[in-house]
Amino acid sequence: MRDLLSPDLLRGRNVFVSGGGSGVNLAIARACAQVGADIAICGRTEARLEAATEELRAYGGRAVYAVADVRDEAAVVEAFRTTAEQIGPMGAVVSGAAGNFLAPAEQISTNGFRAVMDIDLLGSFHVAKAGFEQLRETGGNILFVSGGQSQMPFVHQAHVSAAKAGVDQLMRTLALEWGPLGIRANSIIPGPVDGTEGMRRLAATADAAVWAGMVPLGRFADLDEIGTMAAMLLSPLAAFVNGAQIVIDGGMSLSGSSAFNQAVLSASVATS
Ligand code: HXC
Repeated sequence: MRDLLSPDLLRGRNVFVSGGGSGVNLAIARACAQVGADIAICGRTEARLEAATEELRAYGGRAVYAVADVRDEAAVVEAFRTTAEQIGPMGAVVSGAAGNFLAPAEQISTNGFRAVMDIDLLGSFHVAKAGFEQLRETGGNILFVSGGQSQMPFVHQAHVSAAKAGVDQLMRTLALEWGPLGIRANSIIPGPVDGTEGMRRLAATADAAVWAGMVPLGRFADLDEIGTMAAMLLSPLAAFVNGAQIVIDGGMSLSGSSAFNQAVLSASVATS
């Protein structure tokens, strides 16, 4: 699918991706690298970042990493500083680092709720704020990886739903505040994606057939389909797209979350 994009679409643009060592975020980094971008990624696990940057360099550009937990503002600031020192200021930022687990609201501890809020929402704020000066310098843009939970509640996802709704409102506010400075802000809402940690966690209670049944296209997304759309949104092809929540879910949001909710609730009744 990426073959349909110009191989120079993001040439000369550096893209910073938080959580870029795996899953959807790595797929976005990969798609950007394949259309000419140089890449900086950050995450918590050095071995994963090392392997990912090695893979990304195979596309011919530069790829660097910094170990940083997005919950730690100083670490994120340092990640932007050290990676820009190596490849130059970022022309695009992807805030993708996220955490998730399934649990009924009344069983989520304050610490568990806070962990997800801190990674998804506060972490997105840290990444946006730390990237701001570089984006202003380059006339860049920021893309948040949100989730369907931001609009449509899913059971056992109270923490994630709250966090992702916050991410989307943060995005819209930045679109208003930073638009006049030439910085676009948008988010993507991927539907179920094959081969990701997020789906492995969510599929623990609602199996793949339930998910696929919720998608009018009848299947999961391929990682490449999410990466390609993200690369387009980061590129001049989307020059007038600002403050938008782009849903890439095969139409799942039109079906609602009830099939998932019923599967999860009946599984938890059966085990209680
Ligand atoms: C209930 C749980 C839990 C579970 C953790 N906790 N797992 N509570 N059920 N299954 C609670 C712990 O008991 C603890 O609270 C608190 O959460 C923090 O847990 P830690 O493991 O100490 O924290 P930490 O190491 O920071 O881990 C954060 C995490 C973890 C979010 C809990 O799962 C993580 O690091 N995830 C990153 C990877 C990941 O989730 N990838 C999927 C992202 S996909 P107490 O009170 O005991 O101290 C995604 C999008 C999905 O987010 C959208 C799909 C549509």
